[in-house]
Order: sequence, then structure tokens, then C-alpha cells
Amino acid sequence: MTSQTLIAGNWKMNGLLSSIDEVRAVAEGSCDNAVRIAIFPPYTLIHPISQILGHDSRVVLGGQDCHYEDYGAYTGDVSAHQLYDAGARMVILGHSERRHGHKEPCETVALKVCAALNAGLEPIICIGETLEQRKEGLTHAVLSKQLRDSLPDDLMGKAFHVAYEPVWAIGTGMIATDDQIVDAFSLIRRVISERFGTDFKPHLLYGGSVKPDNAVDVLKLDGVGGALVGGASLKAKDFLKIIRAAP
Ligand code: G3P
Repeated sequence: MTSQTLIAGNWKMNGLLSSIDEVRAVAEGSCDNAVRIAIFPPYTLIHPISQILGHDSRVVLGGQDCHYEDYGAYTGDVSAHQLYDAGARMVILGHSERRHGHKEPCETVALKVCAALNAGLEPIICIGETLEQRKEGLTHAVLSKQLRDSLPDDLMGKAFHVAYEPVWAIGTGMIATDDQIVDAFSLIRRVISERFGTDFKPHLLYGGSVKPDNAVDVLKLDGVGGALVGGASLKAKDFLKIIRAAP
């Protein structure tokens, strides 16, 4: 599994055809090959952006979710194969906006992870606790359960990432403290090594209010393999500052 820093931009339900210029600016403005860059635009933009960027672009495209079946009567859904066909090579799964907003259970996330890997997509599996859960001292229990139940058994040798995104830090400007991030990461590593063995080194990302002015501090933390960025990924000038903050 790669240890290269990954800076990933999740556009969520933002962006029109005119936003393609922002991706072009990111591709042209980033020259540090040590950093991997991924952008997760809405489904409607994956194919047009991939056509413009071309196959050898430094910017990898991804979907923000996928169905666990390959095809069928699932109105409004998109399969992992369709994402790949459109030009995506990664996919975000289990984002809190899916887990909470769409009541998506961990078992469904695990099925989606399998579908994504079978289709040739690299998944980013998100986990995170709510503020209430943190206040009640449930952070470890919640993260462990989400992680255990969202990961399928057959992950050995597969490229995937786990993103720790505390729900209370998403879109709030309230970034987790260094201690909270380090603590969550060590828990994630422990849960994964208990399940898959100590040789298995997961690639871990932090997400939640990462901005140009705090990116250096987050990305330099021990074990942080990159960032999953929401709002600050929408404008190339902000996203490029975060990319350049990578160690
Ligand atoms: O997936 C990224 C996201 O949930 C974080 O959003 O806007 O707090 O950077 P934001």
C-alpha cells in the first residue's frame, strides 16, 4: 500500500460544468510529485473532467459513493463499474453524510467496499463520532464498531484508505485537536492490526475543517497520511495551498 501523502477533495453536492476550470487549475498548479491528489466531484462531472484531464493527469478522480450491486433496478444509484467507466479510480464510502443522512448501516458500507475493489476502485472508508458520542465517552466504541463492521474480510493486499472524520468537525470550522487525531489513529491502527495482522499498515487520512491555515499542522502529525477536504477543496487556490502544505 502506498505511503504517499494523499490530498483528496470531496466536492459533495457542489459544482457545475463551469467548475471544471478549478480542476484544471489544480492539475496545472501542483508540481510536487510526492503528493497524490484526488478530487471527488458530483457524478455529473466525473466523465467531463476525465475527458479534459486525460489519462496521464496527476489528479485522480473519484465518486462520492456507489451501490454494492453492479447493475439493476436501483433508481438514482450508481454502481462502482459505472464510476470506473466514467473515469473514476477511487470512491468515498461510509461518509457521515451517507451514514447519518441516508441511514446507511456499516454492513452496507462493507458490501460497497467489496464492489468498489472488484471494479478496480480504491476506496476511502470514512468513520467518525458525533459530538454527543464524544461527550458521552463513546468515541472509541463508535469508531471501533464502525471500522470493524465497515471493512470486509478480504482486504489483504488491497489498496484502500481509512478517513477519520469526526462528525462535529465537518463543515464547522472546529478541527479536531492533535491529541484527538493521534488517539483516533492509534485506535484505528490497533483495530486493523487485530483483524488483519500487524504487517497490515492502513493508510490513514484526517477530514473535518482542514483549511489552508491549519493544513501544515494536521499533515505533519505522526501517522497522518493525508487529508480529506470538503469546503476548502472547491476553489483551486485554497486546495493548492493545502496540497503544498503536505510534508
Ligand atoms: O469529506 C470531507 C468532509 O466531510 C470535510 O468537510 O468542509 O469540513 O472540510 P469540510
